[in-house]
Amino acid sequence: PANKKLLILPGDGIGPEVMRQVRRVIDWMDRKRRVTFDVQEGLVGGIAIDHHGVPLSDETMADAMGVDAVLLGAVGGPKWDNVSFDKRPEAGLLRLRKELGLFANLRPAIVFDALVDASTLKPDIVRGLDLMIVRELTGGVYFGEPRGIEELPDGQRRGVNTQVYTTSEIHRVARVAFELARKRQNKLCSVEKANVMESGLLWRQEVTKLHQAEYADVELTHMYADNCAMQLIKNPKQFDVIVTDNLFGDMLSDEAAMMTGSLGMLPSASLGAPDESGRRRALYEPVHGSAPDIAGRDLANPIATLLSFAMMLRYSFDMNEDADLIEKAVQTVLNGGTRTSDIMAPGMARCSTSVMGDSIVRVLDKIAAS
Ligand code: NAD
Ligand code: IPM
Ligand code: MN
Repeated sequence: PANKKLLILPGDGIGPEVMRQVRRVIDWMDRKRRVTFDVQEGLVGGIAIDHHGVPLSDETMADAMGVDAVLLGAVGGPKWDNVSFDKRPEAGLLRLRKELGLFANLRPAIVFDALVDASTLKPDIVRGLDLMIVRELTGGVYFGEPRGIEELPDGQRRGVNTQVYTTSEIHRVARVAFELARKRQNKLCSVEKANVMESGLLWRQEVTKLHQAEYADVELTHMYADNCAMQLIKNPKQFDVIVTDNLFGDMLSDEAAMMTGSLGMLPSASLGAPDESGRRRALYEPVHGSAPDIAGRDLANPIATLLSFAMMLRYSFDMNEDADLIEKAVQTVLNGGTRTSDIMAPGMARCSTSVMGDSIVRVLDKIAAS
C-alpha cells in the first residue's frame, strides 16, 4: 500500500512536548513495519506568527489539503494575547477546520478503569463511562456573520457574533451522529436551546425530520444545553452519543473531560464529508489547549494527543488493530500506576511527559514481542 501522508502541526505551549512523545510511537510503528508514514511538519498558531506573521500560512494550508491526515498539538498562549483578533493563534486552527470542511468533531470520553479514582466525580458515577460527543465544528456562532466590534455614535462599543445554522449544516452533522449511534448503543441525544434560540428550534426540527426519514431505528431524545450540562455531572452514563452545536460542544466536551480524570486524556477527530471513494478529510487534535501554566516543564500528559493519533489510525486508515494496540498500551501503562500529575492519585509518584512516552513505547515493545 502507498505511504500514508501525514502533516504534523505541533503548535504552541505543551503542543511540541506532547507531540514529541507521539512521534516516538509513530516511529515505532514505522520500525515495526506495521505501516509507513510519510511525515511532514509545519507551523500553526503563535509559532507561525513568530515565523511568518500569520497563524497559518497559505503554504501550510496547501500542505494540509494535500495529505491524508493532519495531527495537531495545540495553539495559543499569553505571548500572542494582544495580537489583532483575526491574527490570533486560534484563527490558524479555525481556518484549518473551515477550509478543510471539517464539520464533525468527534470527542469520545472514555473512563479507563485505572483512572476511576482520578475523576472528581464519585467512582460509581463514572466507572465504565463511554460517551461520544459529536460537536458541529464549522458553523454556529464561531463563524456566523455579522461579527465584529463596532464603535457606536454615543461612544460605546458593541461586540457582535451571530449564531446561524442552515438545514444542510444540521443534517450532515446529525447524520454522522446517527451513524455512530448505530454502531454503539443506538442512542442519540440532540442538544440545543430550542426554547430561546431560533437556530436551536431549527436544529431540533431538522434532527427530528432526519430521524423520521432515515434513522427511526435509533433512539432519539432532545435536551436543552443547560440541562445537559447538569445531567452530565448527575448521571453521565445515561448518554451514548450527544450531537450539538459548535459552542455547546466545546463546553460540554471540556466538562466530559473531567469524568475521565483529566483534560489531558481527551482526544478528538475532526472529519469532513466523504469524497467519491468514501475518504474524508481529517484533522486529529486533543481537546485540551496549549496549557501555558505547565508548558516547557515536561509535565503535560501526552495521552490525549496519542489517542488522537489512534483515532487517525481508526477513522482515516482503517487500521483498527493498530489503534487497539495503542489504546491497550495506554491502558497497560495506566494500570501499572504510571501517572502524569494531572491524573495522579494520592500517594502515587508523578512521572514526566517523557517518562510517560518511555513507558508507552516499552509496553508496545512488550505487546509486540508476545
Ligand atoms: P488549556 O486546555 O490549555 O488548559 C486548561 C487546564 O488544563 C490548565 O490548567 C492546563 O494545565 C490543564 N491541561 C490541559 N492540557 C493538559 C495536559 N495535556 N496535561 C496536563 N494538564 C493539562 O486551556 P486554557 O488554559 O483555557 O487555554 C490556553 C490556551 O490554549 C489559550 O490560548 C486557548 O485559546 C488555547 N486552546 C487551544 C486549543 C487547541 O489548540 N485545540 C484548545 C483549547 C484552548
Ligand atoms: C477547542 C478549542 C478551540 C475551540 C479554540 C482554541 C479555537 O477550545 O478545540 O476546543 O474553541 O474550538
Ligand atoms: Mn475547547
